[in-house]
Amino acid sequence: MSERFLVAGGARLDGEVHVAGAKNSVLKLMAAALLAEGTTTITNCPEILDVPLMAEVLRGLGCEVEVGGDLGVPPGDRPAGAPSELPAGTVRISVPTRLSSSADFAAVGKLRASVCVLGPLMGRCRSARVALPGGDAIGSRPLDMHQAGLRALGADMSIEHGAVVGSAQTLTGAHIVLEFPSVGATENIMMAAVLANGRTVIDNAAREPEIADLADMLVQMGARVEGGGTSTLTIDGVPELHPTEHRTVGDRMVAGTWAYAAAITRGTVTVRGVQPHLLSSPLERLAGAGASVTAEGGADIRDGAAGESFTVEMTGRPRGVDFITLPYPGFPTDLQPMAFALAAVAEGSSFVTENVFEARFRFVEELIRMGADVRTDGHFAAIQGREQLSSAPVWASDIRAGAGLVLAGLAADGQTEVNEVWHIDRGYPHFVEDLVALGAKVERVG
Ligand code: EPZ
Repeated sequence: MSERFLVAGGARLDGEVHVAGAKNSVLKLMAAALLAEGTTTITNCPEILDVPLMAEVLRGLGCEVEVGGDLGVPPGDRPAGAPSELPAGTVRISVPTRLSSSADFAAVGKLRASVCVLGPLMGRCRSARVALPGGDAIGSRPLDMHQAGLRALGADMSIEHGAVVGSAQTLTGAHIVLEFPSVGATENIMMAAVLANGRTVIDNAAREPEIADLADMLVQMGARVEGGGTSTLTIDGVPELHPTEHRTVGDRMVAGTWAYAAAITRGTVTVRGVQPHLLSSPLERLAGAGASVTAEGGADIRDGAAGESFTVEMTGRPRGVDFITLPYPGFPTDLQPMAFALAAVAEGSSFVTENVFEARFRFVEELIRMGADVRTDGHFAAIQGREQLSSAPVWASDIRAGAGLVLAGLAADGQTEVNEVWHIDRGYPHFVEDLVALGAKVERVG
């Protein structure tokens, strides 16, 4: 907890970086394994703190979980069961015939995303008790749409003693229209509906690539899901599913962070492991700021057939551009802090509108500590770019805010001290090592 990064400003990033699988997919893929008795293997898993934390939740439900590699977790903090003979980046989950449907409070308390076991437990066990994760640094994050969707399938859902509790005699397919294309609600409803009787249609579903990845894995397990990645999901329930092996889609948030780091430091970085069209909105913003952004072999970044790599080059000072966060395919809220860091050193002014989380400007205070010229009003922010920020001690409040502050530190004079970096470790595998390999002067201390 006391670790921090010392970030020296002024280096120009240059080189190649490889991006592993997506945090916001792998955690749901691990939960989906609960839907079938037997052993499921997930590959291309990121070596981040959240994976062993999710493994703890699944062990609490009766699974055996092997996690490959050392996951960048300090030996003392490694949960039981790691290290393993499995290659780094591979997770193997053995699911028993009889599962517990009550997720361990302590384990769930450490990992908000573990609420994604709710759908699989309702689908497989017709009952679930999962600690209510509550809000965090970016918003109140209620679960009303998750519950409403499961109720529509015939479940009794309630909040009792700090937990979301669900039970059902049977689950029956239904037509569900989401108030907002919530990622989590779409995933939980889909994972319950695959084992329900009859057809479920989810309209205004989330379209994130991680949803399409989960739908692909469910189909590999024998589910009947159509429309993964579109706003209408059609699921025909089946009596049972079987285990599978699945490769996690690349992490577009990590890839996007490297793209913005290249632009902020006026460098040239090739990012491997993610198809650029999954990032077309953030990359088009970068092009608007003056960067050259090219896909493998000079292909267009919007070309879905382009390979899994792209290059970002910024030769001069970035220009101010506006950002409006929206559900996919809009500009992702998780790259909003990177947009702020770019705008803070851009030529001219930029405007940021946050439409997904109501409290995601909290980290702006830390940027202002570094001399950024930012004014916020509700979910709008106006930023007047400065030639250079000034180094300062700052505190990460969540994964993305932490990464955004490191990027701001790369564009500041002097050495910035980023505290609470465990947040960053939760979402960015070997972040310091990759930064140093690209020419940055960054050190992990404490
Ligand atoms: C996922 O969170 C991601 N987390 C988030 O990434 C990401 O920011 C978010 O999707 C949006 O893209 C994981 O996948 C683990 P939502 P999730 O349900 O599922 C409101 C990161 O840094 N809402 O789409 O929680 C909610 O409060 C994290 O990697 C309800 O009101 O997001 C929010 O304002 C941060 N009621 C909005 O919808 C509900 O029942 C979007 O939430 C559900 C959601």
